[in-house]
Amino acid sequence: MADAEGSLGVYVHIPFCSGKCAYCDFVSFPGQKGFIDRYLKAVEAEARLTAPDFKPATLYIGGGTPSELSAEEIAELFERLHRAFSGADFSEITFEANPESLDEAKLAALRQAGVTRLSLGLQTPEDPLLAGIGRRHTLADFLRVYHSARAMGTFSISVDLIFGLPGQTLEGFLKGLDQVLALEPDHLSLYGLDLHEGTPLARRGFIPDEDLGREMFESAIPRLTWAGFFHYEISNFAKPGHESKHNFNYWRGGSYAGLGCAASSHLRGVRSRNSSDLGAYLKVVEQGLRPMAESELLQDKDKLGERIMLGLRCIDGLELDQAMEEGFKSEWKDLERRGLIERQGRWARLTRDGLFLANEAFSEFVAPFKSLEVNA
Ligand SMILES: C[S@@+](CC[C@H](N)C(=O)[O-])C[C@H]1O[C@@H](n2cnc3c(N)ncnc32)[C@H](O)[C@@H]1O
Ligand code: SF4
Repeated sequence: MADAEGSLGVYVHIPFCSGKCAYCDFVSFPGQKGFIDRYLKAVEAEARLTAPDFKPATLYIGGGTPSELSAEEIAELFERLHRAFSGADFSEITFEANPESLDEAKLAALRQAGVTRLSLGLQTPEDPLLAGIGRRHTLADFLRVYHSARAMGTFSISVDLIFGLPGQTLEGFLKGLDQVLALEPDHLSLYGLDLHEGTPLARRGFIPDEDLGREMFESAIPRLTWAGFFHYEISNFAKPGHESKHNFNYWRGGSYAGLGCAASSHLRGVRSRNSSDLGAYLKVVEQGLRPMAESELLQDKDKLGERIMLGLRCIDGLELDQAMEEGFKSEWKDLERRGLIERQGRWARLTRDGLFLANEAFSEFVAPFKSLEVNA
């Protein structure tokens, strides 16, 4: 089914990892691979409960670390998803993978399953920095899987990098970026380090240098442009034709169904989030119920605010309708005065300053979850 607000995407969260990185607050459970068998069954059951009549256009398998699944488990996951969405003709299937757990057999299973995009988490090509943030791979591991995947010729390949890491210098970052660009990936995600309370990195007392981070990002943008990438979302750069359709749908306010522990959805104006407790997620789905921990019908100003916040993530910005203009009159004025937003006719977009202070700008529009319906 195509939703009135755009095409429909499906996101599947795979919450297993080989360890916990020092900066990460995504929902993931190292050492819990014994649950994979139950988890794959639960994801299929949830797909049938959530979206029995959907014909989604894109599928995104993220994590956690989806490549923690064995080649056989990868094949089983896709069999189950293709069965649950039997009428779907996916135009894009993305799979996130980590260098320490991807190999030739898993790549073959991904190709067989129809995966079109591979998103590889490198974070930095500097081995000492990788060790410092608790990654469990080296640059050599990444190069091995990158070249194997390239040799297959089937995948559009994206690489994730983070700037502002502990011990990272401007020179080291730019040298690393050039090293990655020399590999000619199709897409690059470049995230500024987000320091989350409670993570080992925050507990260690690491304090990010915002000026250095900004310098890294500002120096990266022209390099990426020269290398043939266009900057299409705050943190995302693509060669023509290689942007993530799934994420574009999301940023354009389209609908998506999230399956799995801690996955979020936005369907028919309702945004919801599944339980982040693996045991509770499995138990509730196995009882034939939906594992939603929070849900809210977005209405009026909240709905508009969500659309604006997502649309502003795109570098081109968004075209405002009358309700968006009038519902947030004072906020638009204030953000323009602070130099975070620029306007041209009905269009609004983040300025260069706004790109760095996006969360500050977004806080004007976004409503937190208000209603709690805990059933998991
Ligand atoms: C959902 S994570 C999972 C991907 C995969 N498990 C990995 O680690 O490569 C997707 C990406 O988010 C980014 N990321 C995760 N935590 C971050 C943080 N605290 N600050 C900035 N980027 C982060 C990393 O670049 C990571 O590759
Ligand atoms: S960054 Fe990726 S591999 Fe590391 S803990 Fe988070 S999800 Fe797992």
